[in-house]
Amino acid sequence: MTSAQRNGKEESGFRRVSLMPAVVVVGAQWGDEAKGKVVDCLAQDADMVVRYGGGSNAGHTVRFDGHEFKLHLVPSGIFRPQVTNIIASGVVVDPQVLVEEIRSLQAEGVDIGNLRVSARAHVVMPYHRLLDALEEKQRGSAQIGTTCRGIGPAYADKAARKGIRMEDLRQPERFATVLRRALEEKSRLLHNVYDAECPTFEHIWREYEEYAEVLRPLITDTDPLVYTAVKGGQRVVFEGAQGTLLDLDHGTYPYVTSSHPVAGGACVGTGIGPTHIDAVVGVAKAYTTRVGSGAFPTEQPNDIGNYLRERGREYGTTTGRPRRCGWLDAVVLRYSAQVNGLTAFAMTLLDVLSGMDTVQICRAYRLPDGEIIEQFPSDSAVLEQCEPVYEQLPGWKEEIAEVRSWDELPEGARNYVQKVEELTGVPVAMVSVGPLRTQTFWRHGISSDAPVQSLQRLAHGG
Ligand code: GDP
Ligand code: IMO
Ligand code: MG
Repeated sequence: MTSAQRNGKEESGFRRVSLMPAVVVVGAQWGDEAKGKVVDCLAQDADMVVRYGGGSNAGHTVRFDGHEFKLHLVPSGIFRPQVTNIIASGVVVDPQVLVEEIRSLQAEGVDIGNLRVSARAHVVMPYHRLLDALEEKQRGSAQIGTTCRGIGPAYADKAARKGIRMEDLRQPERFATVLRRALEEKSRLLHNVYDAECPTFEHIWREYEEYAEVLRPLITDTDPLVYTAVKGGQRVVFEGAQGTLLDLDHGTYPYVTSSHPVAGGACVGTGIGPTHIDAVVGVAKAYTTRVGSGAFPTEQPNDIGNYLRERGREYGTTTGRPRRCGWLDAVVLRYSAQVNGLTAFAMTLLDVLSGMDTVQICRAYRLPDGEIIEQFPSDSAVLEQCEPVYEQLPGWKEEIAEVRSWDELPEGARNYVQKVEELTGVPVAMVSVGPLRTQTFWRHGISSDAPVQSLQRLAHGG
């Protein structure tokens, strides 16, 4: 590649899109697939990590050197000093959570000098959190099981064009004006529909002014920062939150979140075009979990589910709720490969499956009339009725937390990973056998020193 091509220009003078080492990391299931760990691993070889959607409903765990960090808004590249970390326009930011997170990171000696927050990002307000809880209560038995972090109401205001953005928060007078306007409606809504009290202007103003003071230096137009990085051939990792099956359009509606976790959300949420992205890594657990309500065909509400929950410490990072656990679902993973354009999988928590006599992978669904389908249904009511058709494979007894290469894996585990590749047509490029950075190995020619660049090569078949 010539330097002119790298800089986005052909000798002809026309702008062209060159090969950019930009990688999207997306949850391939219902969230909590260990995206935080995968992004932290990739960040060693990155210049920028960009969180592109969701809000403090996310909980991304990063563990290394005896530390465990649970990040809700700050990108998982924050522990790598060379990385610029961006909370992009598609994120809804709860300033209370962000300020708390920044303070606790600083208390642990983590430098946040490289953190920036988009001026376009919407602000989660106290009435959003309140409405989230009240709407859930009102749903009764049809509860979504939200994290009650105000995410749905904040995105609803954004779509209704009455949200408050970080740019507003940055300017005290402007913030006062938009807050007064918002409260006129919200206090009536809370009082008349929910018989609830709305926090007062003075109360919110005082609290949010304190947050604004901390956040002001970080708020900027991040879109050009991201564009300049990808155009300049820098190594950029886009960090997804939630998971594909929680996507507002492509997930198991209405049991979804209110944003676009899918890889396409990385473009919309950061302000770059799709031509700038060529590698998309789907993070998938070696089994499946789900928090909150909604269909889950391979769920195991029995000893198997309990085994997975206890070995995998499957309790919510954000809410502490026990996660529902079940077998790996290849119908879900194929669908995820389809809607995200996956070029690789990172398979995490493979160590959790050790000790089982047999393991199962769902390869298709059986409908009540006996029809077998391989395509993920668009209707949650149909998904509720789907019975998994399983492939049964021999398990492996050995613990694998110390394994650091493909060849060291027990045969059963190797067969399992290869079965996933066969059922999905997507290479499993990374395998994780424990929560630590070091409990990781790469496959398919991915270099552990330069994973971002080699994932891009893999995406191009090289
Ligand atoms: P995220 O939201 O996708 O970042 O995932 P979470 O952090 O919510 O949940 C993943 C959990 O699994 C965290 O507690 C991680 O520390 C842990 N974890 C990550 N990778 C592995 C692994 O390979 N094996 C085991 N046993 N735990 C892992
Ligand atoms: P990370 O990024 C798992 C789920 C909630 C609920 C639904 C809607 O850590 O993978 P919301 O509060 O977003 O309105 O809740 O989405 N949910 C998650 N589940 N991991 C997450 O994030 C999630 N974020 C939201 O449990 O079912
Ligand atoms: Mg999580």
